[in-house]
Amino acid sequence: MTRPLILTSAGVQPPLKWAGGKRWLIPYIANRLPPYQRLVEPFMGAMALTLGLAPKYALVNDINPHLVNFFRQVQNDLTFDLPFGHSEADYYAARDRFNQQINAGRVDTPEMANIFYYLNRTGFNGLCRFNGKGFFNVPFGRYSTIHYRTDFKDIAVVLREYQIECKDFTEIDYSVGDFIYIDPPYDTQFTSYSKIRFSWSDQIRTATFFAGLGLPLLASNQATPRIIDLYTNLGFHIETIAAPRRISSSGDRSDALEMLAWK
Ligand SMILES: C[S@@+](CC[C@H](N)C(=O)[O-])C[C@H]1O[C@@H](n2cnc3c(N)ncnc32)[C@H](O)[C@@H]1O
Repeated sequence: MTRPLILTSAGVQPPLKWAGGKRWLIPYIANRLPPYQRLVEPFMGAMALTLGLAPKYALVNDINPHLVNFFRQVQNDLTFDLPFGHSEADYYAARDRFNQQINAGRVDTPEMANIFYYLNRTGFNGLCRFNGKGFFNVPFGRYSTIHYRTDFKDIAVVLREYQIECKDFTEIDYSVGDFIYIDPPYDTQFTSYSKIRFSWSDQIRTATFFAGLGLPLLASNQATPRIIDLYTNLGFHIETIAAPRRISSSGDRSDALEMLAWK
């Protein structure tokens, strides 16, 4: 096992808060990746792994159009003009503006990237949640201080050669020379609060699709018994490691286990 062949720099911190961010995984895997020409993250989220490894070439993708617009605007040298102040009233004014623009179908603009970043820093826990009509509905975060960046130049440098897509993970163009890191939404039985859920059949679709791709890859997920069975039965090599988060839904506060599945 060797380090990735083509690195631009030491890597950068993800600019967004994101549920399930995987920056913590980098020390576990960075020295264990096979040589690759291009890193692919089909479920990029805040892109923690790709930004942390900072390879020269990457294909990154997410089904969330606001996330994709944000990173595309950063790639085009977005400067952050704080669109609203840090008060509850300002936050809800920003959220209204964001939703008006969604309603008008104007989601791929620098203004929307600015507001998305503002909502991510200022809203509750950095959540990104939409109601059944597709409107952002995360409440105000009540932080005493918030650090907002003024630019994203360090990230733009890393993104320079990256292809950023907004598709279902099955629709992007994988190719020989890729190493793929797969981080779908976690398997959890408790997703009914969310209108758009990543269901168990999506978990099966994900594991089956990538098992048949014939390219080197690593998948991570919550190490539930059925996820471990699914990936084991598809011929992945499985490890489990302690994740830096707690299981709290059942009342105990034990460490959550993360599955790493290699092909
Ligand atoms: C666990 S998060 C990824 C977190 C990321 N690894 C990070 O470190 O920030 C899962 C992501 O999958 C995306 N997603 C859900 N369904 C998808 C699909 N069918 N195709 C592509 N992306 C999808 C979600 O929008 C979400 O950003």
